[in-house]
Amino acid sequence: MNAPHSPSPLAALEMAPSDPILGVTEAYVADPNPKKVNLGVGVYTDDAGKIPLLECVRRAEEQRMKTSPHRGYLPIDGLAAYDGAVKELLFGSSTQNIVTVQALGGTGGLRIGADFLKVLNPGAGVWISEPSWENHRQLFEAAGFKVKSYAYYDAKSHGLDFPGMARDLNALPAGSIVVLHSCCHNPTGVDLTQENWRAVLEIVRARGLIPFLDLAYQGFAEGLEADAYAARLFAAQTTPVLLSSSFSKSVSLYGERVGALSVVTGSDDEAKRVLSQLKRVVRANYSNPPTHGSQIVATILANPELRRLWEKELGEMRERMKAMRRLLVEKIQARVPSADFGFVLRQRGMFSYSGLTKEQVRRLRGEYSIYTIDTGRICIAALTTGNVDYVADAIAKVIR
Ligand code: LMR
Repeated sequence: MNAPHSPSPLAALEMAPSDPILGVTEAYVADPNPKKVNLGVGVYTDDAGKIPLLECVRRAEEQRMKTSPHRGYLPIDGLAAYDGAVKELLFGSSTQNIVTVQALGGTGGLRIGADFLKVLNPGAGVWISEPSWENHRQLFEAAGFKVKSYAYYDAKSHGLDFPGMARDLNALPAGSIVVLHSCCHNPTGVDLTQENWRAVLEIVRARGLIPFLDLAYQGFAEGLEADAYAARLFAAQTTPVLLSSSFSKSVSLYGERVGALSVVTGSDDEAKRVLSQLKRVVRANYSNPPTHGSQIVATILANPELRRLWEKELGEMRERMKAMRRLLVEKIQARVPSADFGFVLRQRGMFSYSGLTKEQVRRLRGEYSIYTIDTGRICIAALTTGNVDYVADAIAKVIR
């Protein structure tokens, strides 16, 4: 007989809650209903309901494959051509003393930034908008920070509570880290105006705060330049600034995990020391980033023809999302004339904070196999001319 052994350390392990966003996709995948619609995760589909392989990507891949590229390690901070091109895309031509390192998507950029900030300012608090992307809190908590919220969204007007935001930021201790959504606020779709951004910059400077911009949707609100307004304003007027960015949505490269972290520093010497610390963080996490996606993006950004093609395809995605907003609002209003969903047209990017209650969200899922986030966030970018009537019918039924 085997000797009795002590209970496994796993015996008392608790089940972790399922992810509020990616867990919804898991439930969607398991649903056999042929009419099911996934308005949960932020993924853009074309009007046929497919995640597009952009033509600029297809051509860049074709070029790359002709050269039978090796799969050796990239440098710890990523492909130099990628880092340089990304920096320019984000910050324009004034990129002096800005460090950009390749990261595993926008989430990876945030996490490298969070680990770096833990070295720089371990006692600081992190402040995120109320509400914010579901993963912000747990990501900064996992890096060892206490995370609190500043006022942002006004549920009554479905708009921005700027006075509340300014009041909260003005009360923060020096050195606090403030996470700001550069455009297409996730989850609400409610953005700061340029005037608001200038006011936030003044508060950041006056109080000595550390801004961490999250720019995951460059090109999804107005265009590549306009959506970089906050990044360029902050980079020109304050240091340090951290910025995470991503090509998941704008180049439809979700699974390739192509993103970056940039840090705006005050001098060449600061830039060198920051880069040395970022490399340490990357090396300790995953050693160095993957080769394929960054090579594709670097090729697109360096080749004028592919770059033009990308901007055209990006513009088409942006316009399709706007058209879907209009269609959804029209169709709900045709069914429930008393409902005012006009605010959806003022929101930007792939998401809408629909105002649907948790109970209504449950009914959409249980009765119609329409999957959204519990907070009522819906992914506008997954609506199509083929499913919008079904979705509008269902929303009309649950809000009546
Ligand atoms: C989302 O908010 O749905 C996306 O950014 C995907 C993710 O990783 O959560």
